[in-house]
Amino acid sequence: MSQNVKGVILAGGLGSRLKPLTDITNKHLLPVYDQPMIFHPIRKMVEAGIDETMLVTGGNNAGEFLRLLGDGRQFGVRRLQYTYQKGEGGIAQALGLAEEFAEGHPVLVFLGDNVIADSLKPYVQKFRQHPQGGMILLKAVDNLSAYGVPKFKGAAIEKIIEKPKKAPSPYAVIGIYLYDASVFRIIKTLKPSGRGELEITDVNNSYIRKKRMHYGILPGHWADAGESIDSWFEANLMAREERKKRR
Ligand code: DAU
Repeated sequence: MSQNVKGVILAGGLGSRLKPLTDITNKHLLPVYDQPMIFHPIRKMVEAGIDETMLVTGGNNAGEFLRLLGDGRQFGVRRLQYTYQKGEGGIAQALGLAEEFAEGHPVLVFLGDNVIADSLKPYVQKFRQHPQGGMILLKAVDNLSAYGVPKFKGAAIEKIIEKPKKAPSPYAVIGIYLYDASVFRIIKTLKPSGRGELEITDVNNSYIRKKRMHYGILPGHWADAGESIDSWFEANLMAREERKKRR
């Protein structure tokens, strides 16, 4: 049975790695080439057929999102809801705030600072047909110590290690995840990590332990625009290349 997938965009956090650009605004309102960063996840979700989305934000500039995005209809979003994360309790905590919005449906979670070239349509379609467990996307990159990195046993992922000193594989787990509704039960079982956050990697490891996690390898470009000023700059260049291809 095909299931409606809802979208959750996470746009909280302090953006401290992009200081001083983020001193007076939220990271996701910064430009990526010719558009505010936050337009990107919204457009990618709509293109993948997701038209009900919740935006989770936080900090001092939360109201600016409403001013910029309104009711979302200009992007093709039928239902855009907003919620506010107090403090910076982690990605999994921010996702937990979308439980009522999800109403028992599976969710596509998009970290608002991730920029990708590929369409999400095939992954969402596949998940719609079998909306059980979770799905993560991997991409081979150089600076692995900034990301979650999977350790493999054969073709299966044994576990994900968050920001490893020594990477167990060449792949980063990118910040786009598909989960069935059991994700909200998993979040309630999490304990804060060493950095005081509820980690999305702990959520993913919980699915992996139950052998309920699938993965795909992203063929096209990926940038984590929030990782450093350099990676934000790279995301701008990548967005420019993609725009040229569409002209
Ligand atoms: O980008 C991919 C990486 O994202 C993954 O490889 C890692 O496993 C995952 O932990 C995450 O790592 P980051 O260190 O890049 O996460 P960051 O703190 O930059 O947060 C990513 C997004 O999530 C950001 O756009 C803001 C949002 N966020 C973050 C936190 C900590 C929230 O909405 N609330 C939060 O409390």
